[in-house]
Amino acid sequence: MSRVIAIAGKGGTGKTTIAALLIRCLLKNGKRPVLAVDADPDTNLPAALGMCADKTLATIGGTREDFFANRDQVPAGMPKEAWLEMQLAQALVESRDIDLMVMGRPEGPGCYCYINNMLRKYLETLGRNYPFVVIDNEAGLEHLSRRTAQAVDTLVLVSDYSLNGLKAAERVRDLAKEMKLQVGRVLLVVNRAPQELSAQFTGALAATGIALAGRVPADALLPEFEIAARPVMELPDDSPAVRAMDQIAESMLAN
Ligand SMILES: Nc1ncnc2c1ncn2[C@@H]1O[C@H](COP(=O)(O)OP(=O)(O)OP(=O)(O)O)[C@@H](O)[C@H]1O
Ligand SMILES: [Mg+2]
Repeated sequence: MSRVIAIAGKGGTGKTTIAALLIRCLLKNGKRPVLAVDADPDTNLPAALGMCADKTLATIGGTREDFFANRDQVPAGMPKEAWLEMQLAQALVESRDIDLMVMGRPEGPGCYCYINNMLRKYLETLGRNYPFVVIDNEAGLEHLSRRTAQAVDTLVLVSDYSLNGLKAAERVRDLAKEMKLQVGRVLLVVNRAPQELSAQFTGALAATGIALAGRVPADALLPEFEIAARPVMELPDDSPAVRAMDQIAESMLAN
């Protein structure tokens, strides 16, 4: 059975970084291959993973638009679903340990229910080939809300160390509930957190009912790597963010 972990939270809190660090930990624990899904139209996950950041990536959104525009031109005798699946398979970027799917832009105007249903089925089937699927979301949960993503076992909310960040995380949790997304458990990672979380912060967190997965400290190497266009995957094993995420991932895997 594959486990689907979706990362979500307010803009700029560190979702992509946490997603890449988590994938790194999964691989270290022998959980390979991982299916990484970039569900943010800004598409930052490939660079964080060190995967074809310089290439123009085929996206699921682009494939969907092509299919939508040319749905009358499906080769004769070929079922529409098979044709779409063939196109979607070409948008999967494969590497030794990570396969990457970039969702791209959400759909334009028009009725996409039919194609989105096919897309969801395809992603669900594809996901079954991997022990873990990690989805890096944009702040608005667009792809999850359009139900182009499958059920989620663990929703990891990323917050900065602020009460506003916590409120934003709570809103995303509530949004997922309102959208009736199938979510197993919801966990919080506090990013750029101090060594000790204050009583006020832990009190406010307890009031949200969201369980704490752990904290990741500010790591001076992360912005340096970003500016140097170096992937998160190349951070040294003993860097503070990697060590913290290792602990968080291990406890997530154990529970
Ligand atoms: N623990 C950390 N310590 C230092 N810098 C960090 C940390 N986490 C993330 N950063 C830096 O903060 C910036 C934003 O991080 P990231 O892109 O992961 O956020 P995001 O939530 O995915 O943003 P967006 O909402 O735009 O997708 C990046 O430059 C990243 O290197
Ligand atoms: Mg991001």
